[in-house]
Amino acid sequence: MDQRLALVLQLVLFTLPLMLLLSYLFKRFSSPNKNLPPGPFRWPLIGNTNLNLGETQTHLSLCDLSRKYGPMMMLKFGTTDPLMVASSHEAAAEILKTHDRICSSRYPPNSVKAPGYFEHTMVWADCSEYWKMVRRMWRTELFSTKMLDSQASIREEKVGELLMFLRRKEGQVVQLSDEVFGCIINVLGGIIFDRNVYDYERKVDNEKGMKGLLRQLMEVASVPDLADLYPILGPFDLQRLRRLSSKYVKMINEYWADIVKEKRASKDHSRNNFLDILIQADFTDAQIDALFLDIFGAGSDTNSCTIEWAMSELIKNPDKLLKLEDELANVIGHGREVRDFHLENLPYLHACIKETLRLHPPLPFLLPHKVSETCQMMNYTIPKNSQIVVNAYAIHRDPRVWEDPLSFKPERFLNSSLDYQGNDFHYIPFGGGRRVCPALNMASKINRFLLASLVHNFEWSLPNEMKSNELDMQDAFTPVLVKAVPLSVMPRAKFRNVECT
Ligand code: HEM
Repeated sequence: MDQRLALVLQLVLFTLPLMLLLSYLFKRFSSPNKNLPPGPFRWPLIGNTNLNLGETQTHLSLCDLSRKYGPMMMLKFGTTDPLMVASSHEAAAEILKTHDRICSSRYPPNSVKAPGYFEHTMVWADCSEYWKMVRRMWRTELFSTKMLDSQASIREEKVGELLMFLRRKEGQVVQLSDEVFGCIINVLGGIIFDRNVYDYERKVDNEKGMKGLLRQLMEVASVPDLADLYPILGPFDLQRLRRLSSKYVKMINEYWADIVKEKRASKDHSRNNFLDILIQADFTDAQIDALFLDIFGAGSDTNSCTIEWAMSELIKNPDKLLKLEDELANVIGHGREVRDFHLENLPYLHACIKETLRLHPPLPFLLPHKVSETCQMMNYTIPKNSQIVVNAYAIHRDPRVWEDPLSFKPERFLNSSLDYQGNDFHYIPFGGGRRVCPALNMASKINRFLLASLVHNFEWSLPNEMKSNELDMQDAFTPVLVKAVPLSVMPRAKFRNVECT
């Protein structure tokens, strides 16, 4: 047995480097590599893996590199396909508009290839017929104006539950993003299958439950994976990351397994929620599992970190907070409840959210795209199968475009036509082109409603008599751009009794 093990080890030790060398040489000499974008020197076999991009500071390192190598830069890690980084609005326009069709495949990391999920996901699918069909369905059955209006009562109810919890926490320290995350997954749960998945009072259960599992899944996605550098290692899953993500995916699926089973067995065919619609459209259980996970995965952290950043910026900039409070008091009225229909008359609120998404885009590189045909961009050759990321973080802070780009100034959006659709490539928090976030209108409604409710109903102070200008604003790429030190705050209710409008 020992001898056999030694033989296997010898084989692995000798054949693996040889295979890697051969695959490197094959790729190097089979493509002439003419006129590729500039980038740091690439070493044989490791490429640019020697660069220290900083585990949670990748966004800053890539900004530094693009200042040196330009708005279309090429990096290469291990033996993977080259990685193109676009860091200007001109480069973004080439990817998301001029060459949108051939730049719209996905480049999925190894950890998301969990069997059962990967075959049916929409987030990581190439632009297949299945992807088109699901996106069409999402557009009409989840995010159309009619559907968003019909979901208003769910948003109001779930945010109301968060406000009740915060009233009970008066004078105590709360970690805001945790509670907001809980509220958002309850809104999503309400919309898709009519259930809460987060209980504000049961912290231990929440950590073992949906919230904890989604966070663990995100953590797995943030671990650097050797298989992403050397795809030849993919099937071995040496770090067991794919196995770990499969385990969490299965545990998350168990959350709604009974709900799906009950629904299938029920004779009630009325279209009450998204699950009813999927069942009536003959989606299989595996497809439903993957699409629900897409919704919770893509919709939870992105929204909760937006609110955490917005509250942090407002606390740090008391003059902006006061301006927002004044707008809310004038439109909603002192002691009155925020309602969904108020949102249309709150331009400063919207400007605060837009400015937060400019400075702190939750997905600073959007999601990785893949080029399906060799093409010319910014006068460079971009080889087929290159991975391509758009550095929204750099574009949103470009001093050529934004005056005083590092300051939080919601006013810059007040008389501006910039919206979330990604047609103007200076501002792309939701991406652009055919892979633009399908939920941008829903996200905008949830974010505005939550921020208005938190600011209108509470005064917020920092623990340990910390001054607002002492608040740490460092960010961390996880791969969602979160606040490195989570925001802890103490709420104090502004009104004893809240009237309904
Ligand atoms: C502030 C909140 C949000 C932001 C900033 C955001 C941003 C983004 C971005 C940048 C992309 C990638 C675009 C690209 O690759 O070019 C994306 C894709 C996606 N988002 Fe969002 N998102 C948010 C909320 C949501 C919510 C609430 C949901 C679901 C309910 C959602 C579902 C998706 C899905 C399914 C995709 C993949 C679409 C595709 O690949 O075709 N997002 N989002």
